[in-house]
This record gives sequence, C-alpha cells and structure tokens, in this order.
Amino acid sequence: MSDSDGLAKREHWGSRVGFIMAAAGSAIGLGNIWRFPYLVGKDGGAAFVVIYLIITLFIGLPVMIAEFAIGRAAQKAPVLAFKALNVSPFWSLIGWMGTIAGGFLTLSFYNVVGGWTIKYIISSLTGLMEIADAGNSGDFFSSFIGQSYQVIVFQALFLAITMGVVIGGVSKGIERACKVLMPTLFVIMIILIIRSVTLPGAEAGLKFYLSPDFSKLTGETFLDALGQSFFSLSLGLGIMLTYGSYIGKEEQLPSSSAWTAGLDTVIALLAGLAIFPAVFAMGFEPGSGAGLSFITLPAVFAKMPAGMIFSFLFFLLLFFAAVTSSMSLLEVAAAFAIEKFHMTRKEAVYGVGFIILVLGIPSATSLAGGPKIYGKDFFDAAEYVCNNVLLPLGSFLASVFVGWFWLPQAIKEITNDGKLKFGWLNTWIWCVRFVAPLAIAYIFYAGLKW
Ligand code: PFF
Repeated sequence: MSDSDGLAKREHWGSRVGFIMAAAGSAIGLGNIWRFPYLVGKDGGAAFVVIYLIITLFIGLPVMIAEFAIGRAAQKAPVLAFKALNVSPFWSLIGWMGTIAGGFLTLSFYNVVGGWTIKYIISSLTGLMEIADAGNSGDFFSSFIGQSYQVIVFQALFLAITMGVVIGGVSKGIERACKVLMPTLFVIMIILIIRSVTLPGAEAGLKFYLSPDFSKLTGETFLDALGQSFFSLSLGLGIMLTYGSYIGKEEQLPSSSAWTAGLDTVIALLAGLAIFPAVFAMGFEPGSGAGLSFITLPAVFAKMPAGMIFSFLFFLLLFFAAVTSSMSLLEVAAAFAIEKFHMTRKEAVYGVGFIILVLGIPSATSLAGGPKIYGKDFFDAAEYVCNNVLLPLGSFLASVFVGWFWLPQAIKEITNDGKLKFGWLNTWIWCVRFVAPLAIAYIFYAGLKW
C-alpha cells in the first residue's frame, strides 16, 4: 500500500481489527500473565491493582496515544522517525535508546522466559504433573534453569518461531498470527478461570485478590505499578511508535489506543482471577517471582482432576502471549535494520535474530550461577534496567516531546487534521504535559534502588 502523503512506500495493517489485535498482542504478554499476578501477590493484593489502574488510565494510555501519533506522523521506525518529523536530533535519543538498549536487551531476557513456556508445554504432557504432585516442582524448575544448554535450546526455538512470523511481514506475518492467537488466548483464559473459581475453597483467593490492603503501599508499590504499566502496554521502547507507523491516516488513534490498553488490562485482571483462586484453593501461598507461574502453579494443577490438561493449556496461553509480544520487539529491531541499512526484511530478521540470540545467552546462563553485576545476575539486571530505567525514561521523553515540543502537530495527528472529535483532548493534553512527566520523574527518583 502506498502512503497518501507521498512518503516512501510502506506496508500498512490490513484492517482496524487486525491492527488492534497486533497492538494488543504486543501488549498482552508475559507481563500480564506471569508478572502482573506476582506483583499483586507481593504488593498488597487489590491495593496494587487500584494503583495500577489509575496509573494506566492517566499515564500509560496517554503515552500510548502519543507514541502512536509520533509513529503515524513519521511513517518511520523510532530511530529515523524524529528526523522525518524535522525536529531536533536530540529526540532521536528516544529511538536509539528504545531500539538498541530496550529492544535488544528486553528481547534477550524475554526470549529466555519464552523458551521456558515451550519446555513447560511439553513437560505438562510428559511427567511434570507426577513430579509436581510429589512436591518437587521447585526442584524441577531449578534443575531445568540450571542446565544452561537446555535453556538456550528452548530460547533459540522460541526466537526461531518469532522470526518465522516476523519474516512474513507486518500484515501477512504479525497481523495474521495475532488475529488467530489472541482470540484463542482469550478462550483458554476463560476456561482456566471457570476451573479456578469453581474449586472448593476458591473464595480465599478471590478475597485476597479483590480486597485492598492499603497499609502495604510503599514507594516501591508505585514504582512497580508504573514499571508494570509501561512494560505491559509495551511503552517506552518505541514499539507502539513502530506499530503506529504502519497505521493508515483514516484510523482513529484514541479509540484504537483505548482498545489496546483496555484489552491488555482486562487480560491482566483475568490472569489474577485464573491464578489466585486456584492457588488458595489448593492451600498454597501466592509466592513471588518466577516461582508463581513455574513452581507454584504446576503444583496447583497437579492437585486438580485432569490437571495435566489445565497445565498444558496454561503454558500454551503463556506461550501465545509471549510470542505475540516478542514479535513486536523483533519487528522494531528489524524495521530499524531495514530502514537504516536498507536490508531486505529477511536479511534484517536473520541478522537481528542472531544478535539477540547471542545477547540472550548471558541471561540464559546466569540463571545457573555466574558473575553478578552489583549483586544481581545478568537476567535480573537486564530486567531491572529495562523495566525500571529504560521504559520509564523512554515514556518520559516521549511525553515531554509530545506535550511541550510537538503539541500542535500531535493534536492534528490525533484528531485526523481536525476531522475527528476527541472528547478527552484536554485531559490528554494535561496528562502528557504534566501528569505523566511529573509522576514518572517523581516515582523514578523515589523508588529507584538496585
Ligand atoms: N508488553 C509485553 C508484556 O506485557 O509481556 C512485553 C513487552 C513487549 C514489553 C514489548 C515492552 C515491549 F516494548
């Protein structure tokens, strides 16, 4: 499809639904199913959920609209987008930081966990339930992540699947895959929720999840909620900017953003509903960290009738969620290589895929022990730098850019040159100019500790 404004030919999404599925596919990922519930467990149950919702509405969603607007106006991936908009080269920092530091670094650890989901899909059908039933799901997990070669093999497999889709292109690869995988994910989620909330003793989990304990709120809760909101909405790394660059001029940015953020939030909330009632019903504690999905849940499934099926479905769900997100991360890096070095899509995907595989090896092997970076292993350090530094910083810069340096053009872009009525325009302006930058700066300052 060619651009109406005469820019270079650029592939666009095939349909509005397809685009929303792809954006939601990026947003809905390990963050929703693996990370959100364990943060809820750690940070005071429903109190965290309330803070998370407020942050997502007043900070995450406005920043997403801003990223889409920059991308669609520029019709370029992040590194070249700001040049195309004829603004100070300083702002290209957002693109470089997002693509190089963020995209590559995030994918390097994201793929590792993506690989675990494949291992667990297979293991669910081949003996994990017996092991977990005997109380050994923790040993199973540590012995798996302790064998670096296995972790690397599964990580490579996960990356290869991601590459296979991204090579297909924006609408024939990513969009097509997301249009099938996202509805399937939703159906699996509903099956798991029905199973979970109908277990005897499920109420304790519902109570934990739904009744807020505000005494548990600390500076860290806010930082966790903010980092989680950006991570979950795929903000700050130029992902939504890139996806925005494939949007046609007739598309409505505010409503597409609301759909994307809404679906993402609903799936995170549903994940808690699938997990906590079952965990409490089976007499477990909602442990934190990777352990909740990969150690506690197999033990929970093992105690259920037909647990093998539910375990298989859960890890399949996690895999679908992860793979549609890793596609978006790979797409940003690939789009950069295509635009900057004039590579074909295939060359770009192979080249970038190789670099990401190599970069992921320290994350994969660090789980088996190895050098620490100021007390954190490589995996935790990469996750920390991405979530607590790069994502908020990228989002801060994007909102300052749009709110203070590019506002008239952004308003033109968001309202489709004044043709589209956006009732929340003033609220949005207020959010990108004041609420988002100030909140990010404050929370960043207050909560940043290694
Ligand atoms: N949003 C994804 C998730 O919740 O798992 C992860 C992610 C994808 C984060 C893309 C950041 C990103 F740029």
